[in-house]
Amino acid sequence: MGGTSTKDGVLLEVRDLEMSIFADGGNRIVRAVNGLSFTLRRGRTMGIIGESGSGKSMTSLSILRLLPRGARILGGQVLFDGRDLVSLAERDLRRMRGRHIAMILQDPMVSLDPLYRVGDQVAEPLRTHQGMGGDALRARVIELLGAVGIPAPESRFNQYPHQMSGGMLQRIVGAAAISCGPELLIADEPTTALDPTVQAQYLDLLEELQQRTGLALIVITHDLGVAARLCDDVIVMYAGRAAEKAPVRTLFERPAHPYTQALLSTLPGRRAPDDIKVDAHKRLPTIEGQPPDLAALPPGCPFAPRCPRADAKCRTEMPPEVSLATDHSAACWYPTT
Ligand SMILES: Nc1ncnc2c1ncn2[C@@H]1O[C@H](COP(=O)(O)OP(=O)(O)OP(=O)(O)O)[C@@H](O)[C@H]1O
Ligand SMILES: [Mg+2]
Repeated sequence: MGGTSTKDGVLLEVRDLEMSIFADGGNRIVRAVNGLSFTLRRGRTMGIIGESGSGKSMTSLSILRLLPRGARILGGQVLFDGRDLVSLAERDLRRMRGRHIAMILQDPMVSLDPLYRVGDQVAEPLRTHQGMGGDALRARVIELLGAVGIPAPESRFNQYPHQMSGGMLQRIVGAAAISCGPELLIADEPTTALDPTVQAQYLDLLEELQQRTGLALIVITHDLGVAARLCDDVIVMYAGRAAEKAPVRTLFERPAHPYTQALLSTLPGRRAPDDIKVDAHKRLPTIEGQPPDLAALPPGCPFAPRCPRADAKCRTEMPPEVSLATDHSAACWYPTT
């Protein structure tokens, strides 16, 4: 692929992405992603934060077109290195997954098969995408295990997942993810927080993988601390849209959208990103009111029912994304400027 020719070092450009899930035999249409756009440059880290059900996981699955049953991409483009993944043939897309774009989940046991040796599981993408085998493959896997910080990789190769700790298993999944040298890694943190030590190890691992390979990261999280620590830019998602997009420092220091402001106002003390602590058990702060039902979205701004600034216009007309500065925008009729 023509990586070096891509203008401005843009790796991924998501344009007006729309994805709905046709549930209950089509009687309930869940509008999980509603016109999401963002740009990710090579080697950079994008955070996606938002409360449970805001469409974070569905966004990442839509990028890879790994959709749940009944889900359909209804519009938009996902340009990866200039090629639209939305219209790519399934066969070509399968070649992209794991090779150019990898995805890892915080709980390694979702990705690993308890019945296979960990070394064989790290070998799998190399076998599939690069046709490697035999001694060369084994040597490459051992090298990767060493690279992600697994001690005595030769003897670890033959172990089964149940013989390893949670932190080691995350490293195994990390080794498999980077095995084919992907340009993009998507890391989705599930709702249930794991052991804080394992969580911290996971963040360290993501940073290590990025430093080692220079890949671009999309980090999906509930935790403002994770966003502050790892990300260059952040998308605050609300009801399947970007309520606000900003470089991380701007987001913490000059939030423009009332939803972002409500989230940040729950944090104690100063709001510089460096002051925000990572805390595995601290879910995204809860603000008053209920998130909207994505199968029955209101006509206007989805945040209007909870918004202190909302007026009649907000309740009837969807606000456009307003650009406030370079890389900073808010979908609001009355953003703070
Ligand atoms: N298989 C499915 N069938 C119907 N609706 C679904 C399905 N999977 C997800 N949804 C709905 O899609 C919407 C977006 O879900 P998504 O999993 O992307 O949220 P999320 O932001 O990742 O939440 P969390 O922080 O809890 O992981 C939610 O309303 C969810 O209920
Ligand atoms: Mg999720």
